[in-house]
Amino acid sequence: MKNSILSILVVACAVIGSVQVASAAGDAKTPRQMDWSFSGPFGTYDKAALQRGFLVFKSVCASCHSLDLIAFRNLEALGYEEGQIKNIAAEYTVMDGPNDEGDMFERPARPSDYFPSPFANTAAAKYANNGAYPPDLSLITKARKDGANYVYSLLTGYKDAPEYVQLMSGQHYNPYMAGGVIAMAAPLSDDQVAYEDETPTTADQYAKDVVQFLNWAAEPEMEARKRMGVKVLFFLSIFALVMYGVKRKIWHDVH
Ligand code: HEC
Repeated sequence: MKNSILSILVVACAVIGSVQVASAAGDAKTPRQMDWSFSGPFGTYDKAALQRGFLVFKSVCASCHSLDLIAFRNLEALGYEEGQIKNIAAEYTVMDGPNDEGDMFERPARPSDYFPSPFANTAAAKYANNGAYPPDLSLITKARKDGANYVYSLLTGYKDAPEYVQLMSGQHYNPYMAGGVIAMAAPLSDDQVAYEDETPTTADQYAKDVVQFLNWAAEPEMEARKRMGVKVLFFLSIFALVMYGVKRKIWHDVH
Protein backbone atom coordinates (compact mmCIF):
# COMPACT_ATOMS: atom_id res chain seq x y z
CA MET A 1 0.00 0.00 0.00
CA LYS A 2 2.70 2.44 1.10
CA ASN A 3 4.75 1.52 -1.94
CA SER A 4 1.96 2.19 -4.40
CA ILE A 5 1.21 5.60 -2.89
CA LEU A 6 4.89 6.38 -3.12
CA SER A 7 5.07 5.36 -6.77
CA ILE A 8 1.98 7.45 -7.61
CA LEU A 9 3.68 10.41 -5.95
CA VAL A 10 6.88 9.83 -7.92
CA VAL A 11 4.96 9.61 -11.21
CA ALA A 12 2.96 12.76 -10.37
CA CYS A 13 6.14 14.68 -9.57
CA ALA A 14 7.73 13.51 -12.83
CA VAL A 15 4.66 14.61 -14.85
CA ILE A 16 4.46 18.03 -13.16
CA GLY A 17 8.22 18.44 -13.57
CA SER A 18 8.16 17.70 -17.29
CA VAL A 19 5.20 20.02 -17.86
CA GLN A 20 7.17 22.84 -16.23
CA VAL A 21 10.22 22.15 -18.38
CA ALA A 22 8.02 22.20 -21.50
CA SER A 23 6.45 25.54 -20.60
CA ALA A 24 9.85 27.00 -19.76
CA ALA A 25 10.96 26.31 -23.34
CA GLY A 26 7.96 28.23 -24.68
CA ASP A 27 8.24 31.03 -22.14
CA ALA A 28 8.60 34.53 -23.50
CA LYS A 29 9.93 37.52 -21.61
CA THR A 30 7.17 39.59 -19.95
CA PRO A 31 6.48 42.65 -22.14
CA ARG A 32 7.73 46.05 -20.99
CA GLN A 33 4.89 47.97 -19.35
CA MET A 34 4.40 51.24 -21.19
CA ASP A 35 2.34 54.28 -20.25
CA TRP A 36 -0.13 54.51 -23.17
CA SER A 37 -2.48 57.46 -23.63
CA PHE A 38 -5.23 54.91 -24.31
CA SER A 39 -4.88 52.82 -21.15
CA GLY A 40 -7.00 53.26 -18.03
CA PRO A 41 -10.70 54.08 -17.71
CA PHE A 42 -10.29 57.61 -19.13
CA GLY A 43 -7.78 56.66 -21.84
CA THR A 44 -8.04 58.27 -25.27
CA TYR A 45 -6.16 57.93 -28.52
CA ASP A 46 -3.63 60.57 -29.48
CA LYS A 47 -4.63 61.55 -33.02
CA ALA A 48 -1.18 62.82 -33.99
CA ALA A 49 0.34 59.53 -32.82
CA LEU A 50 -2.35 57.59 -34.72
CA GLN A 51 -1.50 59.42 -37.94
CA ARG A 52 2.22 58.83 -37.44
CA GLY A 53 1.53 55.20 -36.62
CA PHE A 54 -0.50 54.83 -39.78
CA LEU A 55 2.41 56.29 -41.75
CA VAL A 56 4.75 53.71 -40.19
CA PHE A 57 2.31 50.90 -40.89
CA LYS A 58 1.82 52.00 -44.49
CA SER A 59 5.52 52.57 -45.21
CA VAL A 60 6.93 49.56 -43.37
CA CYS A 61 4.56 46.87 -42.10
CA ALA A 62 2.12 46.90 -45.04
CA SER A 63 4.66 45.36 -47.37
CA CYS A 64 4.22 42.07 -45.48
CA HIS A 65 1.14 42.37 -43.26
CA SER A 66 -2.51 42.79 -44.25
CA LEU A 67 -5.04 44.88 -42.30
CA ASP A 68 -8.22 43.17 -43.47
CA LEU A 69 -10.74 44.76 -41.12
CA ILE A 70 -9.92 48.40 -41.81
CA ALA A 71 -11.44 50.32 -44.72
CA PHE A 72 -9.89 53.58 -45.89
CA ARG A 73 -12.97 55.52 -44.75
CA ASN A 74 -12.32 54.32 -41.18
CA LEU A 75 -9.23 56.56 -41.21
CA GLU A 76 -11.58 59.47 -40.55
CA ALA A 77 -11.19 58.56 -36.88
CA LEU A 78 -7.50 59.48 -37.14
CA GLY A 79 -8.48 63.05 -38.00
CA TYR A 80 -8.11 62.87 -41.80
CA GLU A 81 -10.49 64.87 -44.02
CA GLU A 82 -12.55 63.23 -46.75
CA GLY A 83 -10.25 64.54 -49.50
CA GLN A 84 -7.15 63.24 -47.74
CA ILE A 85 -8.75 59.81 -47.38
CA LYS A 86 -9.58 59.74 -51.08
CA ASN A 87 -5.95 60.49 -51.87
CA ILE A 88 -4.66 57.83 -49.47
CA ALA A 89 -7.03 55.25 -50.98
CA ALA A 90 -6.03 56.20 -54.52
CA GLU A 91 -2.43 55.19 -53.76
CA TYR A 92 -3.61 51.57 -53.64
CA THR A 93 -4.87 49.28 -56.38
CA VAL A 94 -7.66 46.80 -55.73
CA MET A 95 -9.13 43.99 -57.78
CA ASP A 96 -12.73 44.55 -58.85
CA GLY A 97 -15.16 42.94 -61.22
CA PRO A 98 -16.33 41.03 -63.06
CA ASN A 99 -17.08 43.69 -65.69
CA ASP A 100 -19.62 43.34 -68.52
CA GLU A 101 -17.28 40.99 -70.32
CA GLY A 102 -16.85 38.82 -67.25
CA ASP A 103 -13.27 39.84 -66.55
CA MET A 104 -11.78 40.94 -63.22
CA PHE A 105 -9.95 44.24 -63.44
CA GLU A 106 -7.76 46.45 -61.29
CA ARG A 107 -8.69 49.98 -60.28
CA PRO A 108 -7.51 52.59 -57.77
CA ALA A 109 -9.01 52.01 -54.32
CA ARG A 110 -11.91 54.11 -53.04
CA PRO A 111 -12.61 55.16 -49.43
CA SER A 112 -15.14 52.31 -49.10
CA ASP A 113 -12.52 49.67 -50.00
CA TYR A 114 -10.65 47.69 -47.37
CA PHE A 115 -6.86 47.70 -47.18
CA PRO A 116 -5.63 45.37 -49.90
CA SER A 117 -3.44 42.50 -48.77
CA PRO A 118 0.22 42.70 -49.89
CA PHE A 119 0.13 39.09 -51.12
CA ALA A 120 -2.31 37.37 -53.46
CA ASN A 121 -2.85 34.47 -51.02
CA THR A 122 -1.42 32.68 -47.99
CA ALA A 123 0.93 30.52 -50.05
CA ALA A 124 2.44 33.57 -51.76
CA ALA A 125 2.85 35.28 -48.38
CA LYS A 126 4.65 32.24 -46.92
CA TYR A 127 6.79 31.80 -50.00
CA ALA A 128 8.01 35.40 -49.74
CA ASN A 129 8.78 35.04 -46.01
CA ASN A 130 10.82 31.87 -45.69
CA GLY A 131 7.74 29.76 -45.02
CA ALA A 132 6.43 31.94 -42.15
CA TYR A 133 3.07 33.66 -42.49
CA PRO A 134 2.91 37.35 -41.55
CA PRO A 135 -0.39 37.46 -39.62
CA ASP A 136 -3.11 40.02 -40.35
CA LEU A 137 -2.55 42.93 -37.94
CA SER A 138 -6.17 44.19 -37.62
CA LEU A 139 -6.72 42.46 -34.27
CA ILE A 140 -3.16 41.68 -33.20
CA THR A 141 -3.23 43.81 -30.03
CA LYS A 142 -6.31 41.89 -28.93
CA ALA A 143 -5.10 38.51 -30.13
CA ARG A 144 -1.98 38.57 -27.95
CA LYS A 145 -1.89 38.77 -24.17
CA ASP A 146 -1.07 42.32 -23.01
CA GLY A 147 -1.20 43.14 -26.75
CA ALA A 148 -0.03 46.76 -26.97
CA ASN A 149 2.90 46.21 -24.60
CA TYR A 150 3.70 42.91 -26.31
CA VAL A 151 3.83 44.33 -29.86
CA TYR A 152 5.90 47.30 -28.65
CA SER A 153 8.33 45.04 -26.80
CA LEU A 154 8.55 42.67 -29.75
CA LEU A 155 9.35 45.46 -32.20
CA THR A 156 12.03 46.97 -29.99
CA GLY A 157 13.29 43.75 -28.37
CA TYR A 158 15.52 42.18 -31.04
CA LYS A 159 18.86 41.00 -29.67
CA ASP A 160 21.84 38.90 -30.67
CA ALA A 161 20.97 35.27 -29.96
CA PRO A 162 22.54 33.80 -26.81
CA GLU A 163 24.93 30.90 -27.45
CA TYR A 164 22.44 28.15 -26.58
CA VAL A 165 19.97 29.30 -29.29
CA GLN A 166 20.64 27.91 -32.75
CA LEU A 167 19.10 30.07 -35.47
CA MET A 168 18.42 28.75 -38.94
CA SER A 169 18.61 31.08 -41.91
CA GLY A 170 15.68 33.52 -41.95
CA GLN A 171 15.28 33.23 -38.17
CA HIS A 172 15.92 35.99 -35.66
CA TYR A 173 16.24 36.09 -31.90
CA ASN A 174 13.63 37.99 -29.92
CA PRO A 175 13.10 37.15 -26.24
CA TYR A 176 9.50 38.48 -26.28
CA MET A 177 8.41 35.93 -28.90
CA ALA A 178 7.30 32.59 -27.46
CA GLY A 179 10.29 30.30 -27.93
CA GLY A 180 12.58 33.27 -28.60
CA VAL A 181 12.78 32.68 -32.36
CA ILE A 182 10.87 34.76 -34.94
CA ALA A 183 10.85 34.73 -38.75
CA MET A 184 10.35 38.50 -39.00
CA ALA A 185 13.60 40.49 -39.15
CA ALA A 186 13.61 43.64 -36.97
CA PRO A 187 11.37 45.83 -39.15
CA LEU A 188 12.19 49.25 -37.65
CA SER A 189 15.38 51.29 -37.64
CA ASP A 190 16.12 54.96 -36.92
CA ASP A 191 15.27 57.55 -39.61
CA GLN A 192 13.40 55.02 -41.73
CA VAL A 193 10.19 57.04 -42.02
CA ALA A 194 10.06 60.84 -42.37
CA TYR A 195 7.64 62.54 -39.95
CA GLU A 196 6.07 65.85 -40.87
CA ASP A 197 6.15 67.17 -37.32
CA GLU A 198 9.06 67.47 -34.88
CA THR A 199 8.56 63.99 -33.40
CA PRO A 200 11.90 62.13 -33.18
CA THR A 201 12.36 59.61 -35.99
CA THR A 202 13.73 56.78 -33.87
CA ALA A 203 12.87 53.10 -34.06
CA ASP A 204 11.52 53.36 -30.52
CA GLN A 205 9.14 56.21 -31.45
CA TYR A 206 8.01 54.37 -34.60
CA ALA A 207 7.21 51.34 -32.45
CA LYS A 208 5.16 53.45 -30.00
CA ASP A 209 3.25 55.14 -32.81
CA VAL A 210 2.52 52.00 -34.81
CA VAL A 211 1.29 50.27 -31.64
CA GLN A 212 -1.08 53.17 -30.96
CA PHE A 213 -2.34 52.77 -34.54
CA LEU A 214 -2.71 48.99 -34.28
CA ASN A 215 -4.52 49.32 -30.96
CA TRP A 216 -6.96 51.71 -32.63
CA ALA A 217 -7.37 49.27 -35.55
CA ALA A 218 -8.26 46.48 -33.10
CA GLU A 219 -10.48 48.65 -30.93
CA PRO A 220 -11.78 51.68 -32.84
CA GLU A 221 -14.79 51.89 -30.51
CA MET A 222 -12.64 52.10 -27.35
CA GLU A 223 -13.18 55.82 -26.69
CA ALA A 224 -16.97 55.56 -27.04
CA ARG A 225 -16.98 52.48 -24.82
CA LYS A 226 -14.98 54.21 -22.08
CA ARG A 227 -17.10 57.39 -22.29
CA MET A 228 -20.22 55.27 -21.90
CA GLY A 229 -18.67 53.50 -18.91
CA VAL A 230 -18.00 56.82 -17.17
CA LYS A 231 -21.56 58.02 -17.91
CA VAL A 232 -23.03 54.81 -16.54
CA LEU A 233 -21.00 55.07 -13.34
CA PHE A 234 -22.00 58.71 -12.94
CA PHE A 235 -25.66 57.82 -13.43
CA LEU A 236 -25.46 54.90 -11.02
CA SER A 237 -23.89 57.00 -8.28
CA ILE A 238 -26.58 59.70 -8.55
CA PHE A 239 -29.21 56.97 -8.68
CA ALA A 240 -27.77 55.36 -5.54
CA LEU A 241 -28.00 58.71 -3.69
CA VAL A 242 -31.63 59.18 -4.77
CA MET A 243 -32.51 55.63 -3.73
CA TYR A 244 -30.82 56.18 -0.36
CA GLY A 245 -33.03 59.26 0.13
CA VAL A 246 -36.11 57.26 -0.83
CA LYS A 247 -35.18 54.47 1.57
CA ARG A 248 -34.74 56.93 4.45
CA LYS A 249 -38.09 58.49 3.74
CA ILE A 250 -39.98 55.20 3.54
CA TRP A 251 -38.40 53.74 6.69
CA HIS A 252 -38.55 57.04 8.55
CA ASP A 253 -41.26 56.00 11.03
CA VAL A 254 -40.07 52.45 11.69
CA HIS A 255 -37.94 52.21 14.84
C1 HEC B 1 9.56 41.67 -44.51
C2 HEC B 1 8.26 41.30 -44.03
C3 HEC B 1 7.74 41.91 -42.74
C4 HEC B 1 7.67 43.24 -42.39
C5 HEC B 1 8.12 44.46 -43.18
C6 HEC B 1 7.01 43.26 -41.09
N1 HEC B 1 6.71 41.99 -40.67
FE1 HEC B 1 5.80 41.47 -38.97
N2 HEC B 1 5.97 39.50 -39.43
C7 HEC B 1 6.52 39.01 -40.59
C8 HEC B 1 6.51 37.56 -40.55
C9 HEC B 1 7.03 36.63 -41.64
C10 HEC B 1 5.92 37.19 -39.31
C11 HEC B 1 5.70 35.79 -38.74
C12 HEC B 1 6.84 35.50 -37.79
C13 HEC B 1 6.83 34.12 -37.20
O1 HEC B 1 5.77 33.50 -37.14
O2 HEC B 1 7.91 33.68 -36.77
C14 HEC B 1 5.58 38.45 -38.64
C15 HEC B 1 4.98 38.51 -37.39
C16 HEC B 1 4.59 39.67 -36.79
C17 HEC B 1 3.85 39.75 -35.54
C18 HEC B 1 3.31 38.57 -34.75
C19 HEC B 1 4.26 38.00 -33.76
C20 HEC B 1 3.54 36.92 -33.01
O3 HEC B 1 3.29 37.08 -31.81
O4 HEC B 1 3.17 35.91 -33.63
C21 HEC B 1 3.63 41.08 -35.27
C22 HEC B 1 2.91 41.67 -34.08
C23 HEC B 1 4.25 41.82 -36.34
N3 HEC B 1 4.82 40.95 -37.24
C24 HEC B 1 4.22 43.20 -36.42
C25 HEC B 1 4.83 43.92 -37.44
C26 HEC B 1 4.82 45.37 -37.49
C27 HEC B 1 4.12 46.28 -36.50
C28 HEC B 1 5.54 45.72 -38.59
C29 HEC B 1 5.85 47.11 -39.08
C30 HEC B 1 6.55 47.97 -38.16
C31 HEC B 1 5.97 44.49 -39.24
N4 HEC B 1 5.52 43.43 -38.51
C32 HEC B 1 6.73 44.42 -40.40
C33 HEC B 1 7.02 39.75 -41.65
C34 HEC B 1 7.15 41.12 -41.65
